[in-house]
Amino acid sequence: MRMVDLIIKKRNGNAFSNEEISYIIDRYVGGEIPDYQISALLMAIYFQGMNFKEVSVLTDKMMHSGETMDLTSISGPRVDKHSTGGVGDKVSIPLAPLVASAGLIVPMVSGRGLGHTGGTLDKLESIPGFSSRINKKHFVEYLSRSGAVIAGQTHNFVPADKQLYALRDVTGTVESIPLITASIMSKKLASGTDGLVMDVKTGSGAFMSSLEDARRLADMLVETGKFMNKNIRAVITDMNEPLGEYVGNSLEVYEAIEFLKGRGEERLGKVIFQLGSHMLVLGGIVNTPEEGITLLEEKIKNGEALARFGEILKNQGGDPAVIENPERLPISDKKEVFSLPYSGYISHINTRKVGLA
Ligand code: URA
Repeated sequence: MRMVDLIIKKRNGNAFSNEEISYIIDRYVGGEIPDYQISALLMAIYFQGMNFKEVSVLTDKMMHSGETMDLTSISGPRVDKHSTGGVGDKVSIPLAPLVASAGLIVPMVSGRGLGHTGGTLDKLESIPGFSSRINKKHFVEYLSRSGAVIAGQTHNFVPADKQLYALRDVTGTVESIPLITASIMSKKLASGTDGLVMDVKTGSGAFMSSLEDARRLADMLVETGKFMNKNIRAVITDMNEPLGEYVGNSLEVYEAIEFLKGRGEERLGKVIFQLGSHMLVLGGIVNTPEEGITLLEEKIKNGEALARFGEILKNQGGDPAVIENPERLPISDKKEVFSLPYSGYISHINTRKVGLA
């Protein structure tokens, strides 16, 4: 096989065989195929797409490109959540401790910023000392101790996605349903979760700006999950304006802490409770999303979710004092104030531009 022939094959709109997908992933991770050829291939996939069988094989190959987590030693329902990416989307930060305090095991493997969207890991790393680089032994240890871990990909964990993700970010090939599906599902399946709730964003700040594309992405994610024997649900949520009131790494950590203290902005709270309640249903902790919301509200009120966040920070080297003293979080020294000479209300925001800023 020659890589150039495979690029031409996809450029001309043909489907890959299982062997061809294995060839591409094995050789790319092994350092035998240069980035410029994979960039051309990603662009061909962007324009020509992939069928369901190709996406499933790609997901499986990417998932097995490094080591996978075995969490069978941990008792409790393992359920995770992942977002397709948005602006001001800090949901994972309060959600992981919240649902863990309600009894779920959350092995969360998150990403970095992609395109105009922020990354959970970049946000968490604004907390002094916090580390998302966790080895397999500590991943299992922290999970059994506190019910949640928020980690990044080490060079051994889904290396195929780590490399492809970085390349897509700089080659204009992010907004592709097959590539987003394989990227998300490979990470989530390798982390040892049984259930997954997908937050599929739609609107001006999402990769899938139209509702129709968001539905197609949600379908592809759910079908791929089923094919891999996982229990998966997708919730489509609005990204026509930034989520919450803050955008930016440390600002979003601040807002996540405010939410856990019971002072969250309403729209942000709605998304967190919706996703969390579906996670609890998937994990068998409650029977309906309504029961789930009641339980989660209780965990915020009685302070258990916030306490769990402190434990996660301690496990991962972060300074738990930021919870009571948010001034310990770094703040940018560049400020620009925009004011109007008259009063009014904002009717529309170009969310993508806010993300880029
Ligand atoms: N999140 C991911 O992990 N991968 C994508 O491609 C998009 C969002």
